[in-house]
Amino acid sequence: MPNALFRTKKIEKILADSALADEGHSSGLKRVLTVRDLTFFGIAAIIGAGSFSSLGGAVFSGGPGVVLLFVICGIACAFTAFCYSEFASRIPVAGSAYTYAYASFGELFAWIIGWALIMEYSIGNIYVSFSWSDYFTSFLGKINIHIPDYFSCSYAEAKAAVEKLGSLTAEAERADFLAKKANVELLNAWNSASVVGGLRIIADLPALLINILITILVFRGIKESRNFSNLMVILKLAVVVLVILVGGYMIFSNGLTANWLPAATDGTKSFMPNGFSGVMAAVSGVFFAYIGFDAVSVLAEESKNPQRDLPRGMTYSLIICTVIYILLALVLTGAVYYGKFENVGDPLAFIFEEQNLNIGWMQFLVAICAVVAMTSVMLVFQMGQPRIWMSMSRDGLLPPVFQTIHKKFKTPSFSTVVTGIVVGVPILFTDKDFVLDFTSIATLFAFVLVCGGVLLIPKREKEPGKFHMPYINGKYIFPLLLVAVVALLALLSRNYFTDLFNFDFSGDKDYVSGKISFMDAATPKISLIIFWISCIAIAVAAFIKNYSLIPLMGLSTCLYLLTGMTKSNWAWFLAWLAIGLVLYLCYGIRKSKLASAPAAG
Ligand code: ALA
Repeated sequence: MPNALFRTKKIEKILADSALADEGHSSGLKRVLTVRDLTFFGIAAIIGAGSFSSLGGAVFSGGPGVVLLFVICGIACAFTAFCYSEFASRIPVAGSAYTYAYASFGELFAWIIGWALIMEYSIGNIYVSFSWSDYFTSFLGKINIHIPDYFSCSYAEAKAAVEKLGSLTAEAERADFLAKKANVELLNAWNSASVVGGLRIIADLPALLINILITILVFRGIKESRNFSNLMVILKLAVVVLVILVGGYMIFSNGLTANWLPAATDGTKSFMPNGFSGVMAAVSGVFFAYIGFDAVSVLAEESKNPQRDLPRGMTYSLIICTVIYILLALVLTGAVYYGKFENVGDPLAFIFEEQNLNIGWMQFLVAICAVVAMTSVMLVFQMGQPRIWMSMSRDGLLPPVFQTIHKKFKTPSFSTVVTGIVVGVPILFTDKDFVLDFTSIATLFAFVLVCGGVLLIPKREKEPGKFHMPYINGKYIFPLLLVAVVALLALLSRNYFTDLFNFDFSGDKDYVSGKISFMDAATPKISLIIFWISCIAIAVAAFIKNYSLIPLMGLSTCLYLLTGMTKSNWAWFLAWLAIGLVLYLCYGIRKSKLASAPAAG
């Protein structure tokens, strides 16, 4: 049994299986995508709900210092993109990280990655659907079309708002809660909804509707999706650049640059008013904004020259988006005092509201653009998920029906419909924050395994026209970098390492008031301790095995970002992995193609 869990699929075998599917039948996917299309797909997947929606919460938590987090996430994603590119160039098939793990870590990890990717692609799309609905309903509101509150919010959010209000006893707190428009809408949804059999009929219909439309579009075919997607990318890039230009101009012409150094709680002016822990608390929202560049790799079997173009598409889209995000974060935090972003779900439109920069037409434009931007994210993710399931099915880890290709449209039809259901049904009973955290932790986990996986695959000869990750020996550089970072931390904050082992939380207001438990307070410290121990282990391995520096950097930066996750994120994520493990042990391990052909492994 342990052998079965770690049996790997040889790269030659993966390529041969894919070629069979490609040539042997008319069932292969159509190879139509060029490097420009792939770059556009990358941007289509990256810029969306992260920048148009979750950025508000991130700015409120980290202040202008959130720019730093965009830089850290950008660096982590750049190293990871190199690793994805190396794999994509060696194994240009549709399964992305799932297939890469199969070739490096073995079947169990491959399954775990495939399972975690459901969270990136499908659960991530639930967050995007909710954000899409927020902007869409507010856009309709601007042209005087009103959808009832109970049909434009989720049941879970409305219920949570009622419970929250019920728990507030102080009059000032209740007044503060009721002063927020979003809260009033949620309470109204609850109070005005029809009740059938004791159940309030509350559902986010626009979110459901866009999910159905996207599923139909993806079902119809890649070419149609590509044309639609390219158009949307051009539009959203144009509007985001306009936000940066107009916002940037207003910051300097209105003399708002002081917003970049707001007062911290102790009165000192600081780029990070809530400290670095405030910045790190924004990690889910900021990292979510970057997710998507990796989705390019699932289009391997639809690219004209995947070994050359996939790495380029991924890299170009990531560079463009990183620059845009850093500028966008600077514009947001410069245009408006960071503390005003509490519960702001439409931050890009918010900065142009009357009480802020007061440019009405920009508010309107951003609202339209947000709807477009998020539609393109959903399109790419909804295309990614079925292709991963298709690969898992080819390997026997999922039932054969998941690899059915539609005769006329040449798309993975069954998997596409199942994806639509997996995204659509939870829209009825989950909420935004929950799915945001869930998506970010799972995607980071997949990135960690991809970077680690590159270290395990054998070196290869250079072949012209194919991407090769530059090899820089990490033997000395990585351990030296680690020592340098530790020394720098100790220098900047003398008690950094002793504080890490201090589990006395009596100075923590939330802990004393009982708002958070011991484990809530201890999780960041435990995560950091595990992180530093992992770094030491990685440095030792790099020294012994002469590991390549780029994947080492990807691995360590992604591990660092995982330290920003909370206790409940970990609890849900581990529960999800446990369910996946049970399914694998009940089905995949027996049905795997490698189980009937052990010689291939
Ligand atoms: N990066 C994608 C977005 O922000 C997931 O919507």
